[in-house]
Amino acid sequence: MDDADVIIFNTCCVRENAEDRLFGKLGEAKKFKEDKGTIIAIGGCMMQEKQITDKIKRSYPYVDIIFGTHTLENLAKDIYFALKEKKKIEDVIDIEGEIHEGTPIVRGDNIKASVAIMNGCNNFCTYCIVPYVRGRERSRKPGDIINEVEELAKKGYKEIMLLGQNVNSYLVSEREKDNNISYEVIVQGKEMIVNSFATLLKAIDEIEGIERIRFISPHPKDFTDDVIEAIANSKHICHLIHLPLQSGSTNVLKRMNRKYSKEQYLKLVDRIRRLMPDSTFTTDIIVGFPGETEEDFEDTLDVVKKVKFEQIFMFIYSIRVGTPAEKMEDQVPEEIKHKRFDRLKALAEKQIAEKNETYVGTTQKVLVEGYSKTNEKILTGRNEANVIVNFKGDKSLIGKMCDVKIIGNHIWYLEGCCDKIQE
Ligand code: 5AD
Ligand code: SF4
Repeated sequence: MDDADVIIFNTCCVRENAEDRLFGKLGEAKKFKEDKGTIIAIGGCMMQEKQITDKIKRSYPYVDIIFGTHTLENLAKDIYFALKEKKKIEDVIDIEGEIHEGTPIVRGDNIKASVAIMNGCNNFCTYCIVPYVRGRERSRKPGDIINEVEELAKKGYKEIMLLGQNVNSYLVSEREKDNNISYEVIVQGKEMIVNSFATLLKAIDEIEGIERIRFISPHPKDFTDDVIEAIANSKHICHLIHLPLQSGSTNVLKRMNRKYSKEQYLKLVDRIRRLMPDSTFTTDIIVGFPGETEEDFEDTLDVVKKVKFEQIFMFIYSIRVGTPAEKMEDQVPEEIKHKRFDRLKALAEKQIAEKNETYVGTTQKVLVEGYSKTNEKILTGRNEANVIVNFKGDKSLIGKMCDVKIIGNHIWYLEGCCDKIQE
């Protein structure tokens, strides 16, 4: 912030602690505004919440630009007017707008890239603010997505992460409006039809140069067999599946409006494992949802024990203003939430350590991302299950897929040695 002429905060409103951080940082930024007139801009989902923009205007009047999630393409113009004409700018529009194509993207590296395939969410899980700030589901056109991935492949990118709040609803809302919706696309000179998430995956799988395809997040209730088959029959789609559980208790799941039960979730995992015995899973879990009893929490631990996740993203439930769960009366006391969180964390860490031990002695395909942050002589990358693998090797291996023999388990990463580059 010291050096900046313009400070831009990109915000997230999914959980309370991310929100709190913005206000702390805004306090820090005030000094720069006062000392040298730094332009301060805030964007992202929080700006789609009226009570937040009201608070900023009231309590942080030195903020110059507020921009929403649907006006990103105007940012350069907004900054220009703030700089040149010293104008206060509020550029937030209705969340139901069309997806804007063609906004230039600067990406952090040249090996892995994220590509949005859809925006919004129709699910209204009772704890979640996303449907209120991102609007209803709408999908990008298959041709636009495929062009973007082909361009990335040409630039040498090797791994693509497809993004959406509920990726397996890709084109579902569009199909509700037009039952026959279907797009012809040309991939590597071959004509293909895309009319669903499964067919989109198949098309992207054909793009030459892309070695790994991942996607987040699918909703368990919409994980159809055609998607499982598309992954199983693909050349490049990772067999690591992020499958948000949220809770292992059927009771809690019902009150979360998740539309699946504990048993249905476990059956889905079985179904995927039957077709792909090498599949692995990561998940999201919320601890301390209103009304969660000790018994409910034990159901969550039970699912964790049964599935043996590769990684668990754990969250303590936080109230989101305007969601149905905000009004639920039986909020769980903070102390109990934290104790349960610690128990889940301990179980997850034990399982992950045991799991990592099973990699020792195996050979893993590792996409090399660069040098390790802590040791400049050690290369770092990830295997298909997204576990970090560090090994000694030459700079020329960066960006390549290598066969790495795993010789050690260090809990947060695996140690390997590289035999050869994969052809
Ligand atoms: N409190 C805690 N965690 C939440 N998530 C979403 N809303 C909340 C909330 N109110 C978590 C869910 C979701 C992830 C992105 O964030 O687990 O999958
Ligand atoms: Fe939120 Fe995901 Fe539920 Fe949509 S599906 S409401 S984004 S948790």
